[in-house]
Amino acid sequence: MMKTFTSAILLNFSLILAAQNMAQPASFDSNAKTFRLDGGDVSYVFGVNSRGELQQLYWGGRIAISDRFPQAQSLREWASFDDSYSNTPQEYAGWGAGLFNEPALKVTFADGNRDLVLHYDNHKITPHGFDIVLKDIKAAVFVTLHYSIDPETGILARSATIENREAQPITIEQAAAAAWALPAGHYTLNYLTGRWAGEWTLTQEPIHPGARIIESRRGSTGHQANPWFAIQSGDTSENHGDVWFGALAWSGSWRITVEQDQLEAVRITGGFNPFDFGYVLAPNQSLETPVFYGGYAAHGLGEASRILHHFEIAHVLPHRVGEGDTAAPKPRPVIYNSWEATEMNVTEEGQEVLAEKAAALGINRFVMDDGWFGQRKDDHAGLGDWYVNPQKFPHGLKPLIDKVHSLNMDFGLWVEPEMVNPDSDLYRAHPDWVLNFPGRPRTEQRNQLVLNLARPDVRAYVYGFLDKLLTENDIAFLKWDYNRNWSEPGWDQLPPAEQKKVYVEFTRNLYSILAELHAKHPKVELESCSGGGGRVDLGILQYADEVWPSDNTDPFDRLTQQDGFSYAYTPQVMMAWVTDSPHGINNRSVSLPYSMLSSMQGSLGIGANITKWSDEEMATAKRLIAAYHEVQPTIVQGNLYRLISPRNGSEFSATQTVNRDKSQSVVFAFIHSTQEGHKFPRLKLEGLDPAGNYALTPIEGKAERDTPTTASGAWWMNHGLDFSDEFRGDFQAAAFRLDKK
Ligand code: GLA
Repeated sequence: MMKTFTSAILLNFSLILAAQNMAQPASFDSNAKTFRLDGGDVSYVFGVNSRGELQQLYWGGRIAISDRFPQAQSLREWASFDDSYSNTPQEYAGWGAGLFNEPALKVTFADGNRDLVLHYDNHKITPHGFDIVLKDIKAAVFVTLHYSIDPETGILARSATIENREAQPITIEQAAAAAWALPAGHYTLNYLTGRWAGEWTLTQEPIHPGARIIESRRGSTGHQANPWFAIQSGDTSENHGDVWFGALAWSGSWRITVEQDQLEAVRITGGFNPFDFGYVLAPNQSLETPVFYGGYAAHGLGEASRILHHFEIAHVLPHRVGEGDTAAPKPRPVIYNSWEATEMNVTEEGQEVLAEKAAALGINRFVMDDGWFGQRKDDHAGLGDWYVNPQKFPHGLKPLIDKVHSLNMDFGLWVEPEMVNPDSDLYRAHPDWVLNFPGRPRTEQRNQLVLNLARPDVRAYVYGFLDKLLTENDIAFLKWDYNRNWSEPGWDQLPPAEQKKVYVEFTRNLYSILAELHAKHPKVELESCSGGGGRVDLGILQYADEVWPSDNTDPFDRLTQQDGFSYAYTPQVMMAWVTDSPHGINNRSVSLPYSMLSSMQGSLGIGANITKWSDEEMATAKRLIAAYHEVQPTIVQGNLYRLISPRNGSEFSATQTVNRDKSQSVVFAFIHSTQEGHKFPRLKLEGLDPAGNYALTPIEGKAERDTPTTASGAWWMNHGLDFSDEFRGDFQAAAFRLDKK
């Protein structure tokens, strides 16, 4: 009674708002039993169907507030083999009745029953969406689906809380955060794949009947696939066509299943990876899934990434409490990192020499990488022993930190908290602290084992040493590394049936440590690194200010990696160091300006052995760092346009960014290797104010002699920017800024 009354008020309220042309984000039509979310240029509609299931009705461009949907009708049976349960696009389907597609939830009850049929029970409207409760048709298993929509970007956040109110435990074998649906059609799937030093390959393929599984079974996000997808209607295009995209906020094992069903409709189901999964829920316990974000763009993959970038900056990344404000994250400091210069041979004196040179370049933050702790000489020993190595730093870290501060930089430090070398005091004292199956071999990777962070004592140790480190030293930043994946994921303190909880509790404890450290040390910033880009996802990005995309810092390889990265993640978090040439990965030599410009497309850092740099190299880097500082907010937080992709062996590539008020734009252009005298294509710029006047200033390189230095936005967008005839050769780079007069 109360529910209907509230809904009627809300419906009337929504009509009043409609009359005023002020849509509310969430509205419920109690007659048709439909739920509707509106935000940005997006509407999302679903309803309770004639059988009682929650069924998707629409996801796409914003529709008029006066548009109404009739009550959802479950789809008809095509044949006994293609039944209605599988044809109907449910919002969150239990495995039961006649469901043959990917279920969102699969459970086994204490009596052996495995049938779960979820029907609508009740709902409430929340500030930006709904909480909708589903219940099994018989058992007291409740699932609350959380929905919210971002009013600016139209990005939806969906997750589920599964609760057991039965008298006996149930085992969850599969739990998605959400399922998304698209009507029958011709689609292209985009996703990101890779390997160590080869992350961020944009993989594009037509969607065919059957399922494409994108996943990690590794205990963490993984280099091999990233929990992001974009599906384009028709063939893939940067600037045209409908795109539906999504990303999972989870840093443990995950799975996204993209399925074209028997009626050619598409469903995308994502959440915990069901492989080796099992979560026992005792009576009155509940399990919360990660969040699965989903968005829609009407103008191609380019717009989809720009929407996602803005959402990440505004709503995902940590907002550090600085001088009394919680405003959007600031552009990252330009850092120096010692890893490629010294590897683990760090000493107080050696780091101080590097710090002096770094300061002379205009660097803001000095980061000491691996090698400063325990008996760490190489990767065989030391992980787990987080005391300062007394031979390398006889007086602790303070003299180095003081020196760095005296040079006007802040100080950052490398840690790898979840790992242990068998050759360490920690492992000798606590051999039972690692993931393992008793009596079975413990597979080492990089000579290390994974601490079972799910254990309360391990969690306490990890939090404890980090808190101590940050309390005793003036540290502004941690580079948090994670250099292997799981093997033998046993947790033998728990009864066998419950051990698989490790997949959930490990990651939850990681997040809770990060949250607790953030609360106690609010100014300390964090980088998520996992041997490069092995742990980049919207889960870790709630705690990490930046990520390390790859251990491959070859500046030419980085162009393609950065291009791939940008489909899912904002350049704000994309750290890019300039390192020495020739670079070890390909033994390729390039000029310093080329390396600098490659890295300046993201958040710039220097990782070269700068003690060996000539005066000329120091001057070039200093000049370009200063130029970068002036335009960094536009590059890392503006609208990104991938003008020419470096993918697929392209001879050329170019990007452009425009700040939000369109007063500034930055263009980067690269030549891989000029062939047959091809001239760099005239670049038609995008996203400028057509009526504004923009002055062109080279950061590096030259424009054509007859290119005006000032012209309208319309001129730059319609006529375009011509490059000098001298812009030819191998591994050439140019950059320009345009400032509105
Ligand atoms: C990983 C990181 C590198 C470096 C090393 C240190 O490989 O990705 O940047 O920190 O560990 O061992």
